Amino acid sequence: MDSIDISDAHRQRPAGSFRALIDDRPDDGVFRLHRDVYTDPALFDLEMRHIFERSWSFLGFTSQVSQPHDFFTTHIGRVPVLVSCGEDGSVGAFLNICRHKGAELCAVRQGKSKSHVCPYHGWIYDSSGRNIHIKDQDQGAYHPSFDQVDHGLVPLAAIGSYKGLIFGSLNADVPPLEDFLGDMRFFIDLAMEQGENGMEPIPGRTQYTYRGNWKFQLDNGLDSYHLTSTHLSFMRALDRRRVGEGNPHGNQTDFFKDSHCDTASFGFDHGHTVFTMDNTEPHRRPFWPYIDKLRDRVGDAKADWMSIKMFNSLVFPNMQLAHNTALILRVFRPIAVDLTEMTSYCLGAIGEPPGERGMRLRAFEDFYNAAGLATPDDSVVYERCQQGMATGAIGWLQGFSRGLGALETGQNDVTRPMGINPVESSMGTLQSGQEVVYHPPYREWARLMEAGEAAAPAYP
Ligand code: FES
Ligand SMILES: [Fe+2]
Repeated sequence: MDSIDISDAHRQRPAGSFRALIDDRPDDGVFRLHRDVYTDPALFDLEMRHIFERSWSFLGFTSQVSQPHDFFTTHIGRVPVLVSCGEDGSVGAFLNICRHKGAELCAVRQGKSKSHVCPYHGWIYDSSGRNIHIKDQDQGAYHPSFDQVDHGLVPLAAIGSYKGLIFGSLNADVPPLEDFLGDMRFFIDLAMEQGENGMEPIPGRTQYTYRGNWKFQLDNGLDSYHLTSTHLSFMRALDRRRVGEGNPHGNQTDFFKDSHCDTASFGFDHGHTVFTMDNTEPHRRPFWPYIDKLRDRVGDAKADWMSIKMFNSLVFPNMQLAHNTALILRVFRPIAVDLTEMTSYCLGAIGEPPGERGMRLRAFEDFYNAAGLATPDDSVVYERCQQGMATGAIGWLQGFSRGLGALETGQNDVTRPMGINPVESSMGTLQSGQEVVYHPPYREWARLMEAGEAAAPAYP
C-alpha cells in the first residue's frame, strides 16, 4: 500500500494554474476536481475577487422594489449591496457602505424608507443613494475642496433585470445580461412566466448557514444521485403518503414515483447548467386549473415543460431555480472557505388565490424549509464532505464521472423543440444520476479565475 500524502506541497503551484485543479480530459473520459477547490482559503479569496466581484450576481426581485423607497440589502460575494427604489420610481443598486469611514450602512434585510442613516456619525442618504446630510457640516471647518467630492453611495458598475429578477455587477466589463443568461432564459421563463402578472417571492424566507464551502450547494442543487441515499427518510415519507398515511397534502408532487423516468442535463455558456426529470403528476401543479390559459399565453412548449417536467438549475455562480416539489429560488453566499449562508425563497404568482399560495407554501415547507424533510440532510452531508476533505488525506475527487459515457455536444432531439442550444447534454433515467452537470460551472470557474488574475482589480 502507498502512504497517504497529506503534505501541502500542492500549495506551491504557480499563481494562475487553476486548471491544474480540474483534470478535464474529455477525450480520455476523465473529469476530476482536486479537493483544494473546496478547502483552500487562498483560493476562496481569489474566488471572491475573480468570480463574485467580476461577474453578474443575482441581487433580488423587482417585486421587492416596485414602489418608491422600497429597498432590500444583499451581497455580491463579500461586498454588501443596497438596492433601492428612488422617489422617481427608478431602481438603483449601490455599495451598502457609508462614504465617510466605510461602515456598512443599512442593516435591515428589506423595507421601505425615504432615507438611510449611518449608525456611526449620522450621514444620511436618500432612496436614490444621494447624500442628503453630513452631520454638523457647518461646524466642520471643511476645506472648500470637500464640496467638490461626490458623497453619495457608490453605484454598482452594472445592473439589469430579466423576468422579475435583478442582477448586478461590480465590474462594468460584463456581457449584456441577456447574453450572460443565454439559453438559461428558457428555464427562467418556465419559473417566472407562470403568473399572468409575474412572480414574486412569497413573504418570508428560509435562511441558515452550513459549515462547508459554497460549492457544495452549487453541486448538490444539481445532484440527482444523492436522492435515494441522503433523502431516504423523505422517500419513505412519500411511500407512506402513497398509501394514505402521514400528511398526504404536505407535498404537491410525488417526487419519486418512478425511478426509471427520463432525465436530462444541459450545460450552457457562462457556467449555467440544468437537470430535468419527468413529473408524473402535472395535475398537482398550482396552475393546473388554468393550464389552457397558460398555454395560450406562453405557448405549448413552455406550458408542457412547466407541467410535465421538473428541473433544478444553476445560474453561475450562486443562484439556483428549482421547480420540483415546489418552485423555489436559492442563493448561497460564501462567508468563508468553510462557511456558507443559504437563503431560499418560495415563489408564487403575483395576485394568485389563497388556495394556490397555500399549496405552494405547504410544498416548500415540506422539502425546503431549514427544518423540512430534505434540507437538514443536505446540510449534514456538506459538513461531512468539508470535514473529510479538510483532513488533506484525499486529493482527487471521483464524483464528476457519471454520464460521461452518454455526453452529447450541441443540440439534440430534446433541445431542438425547446429552441435551446446547450454546449453539452446527457440523457438518462433518474437512476443514472448524471454528474456531467457539474462540468460547465467548474470550467467557468477555471476560466474566470485565470482571467481575473490577468485583469485589474474590479473595485470601484
Ligand atoms: S462611517 Fe458613516 S457617518 Fe461615519
Ligand atoms: Fe438534497
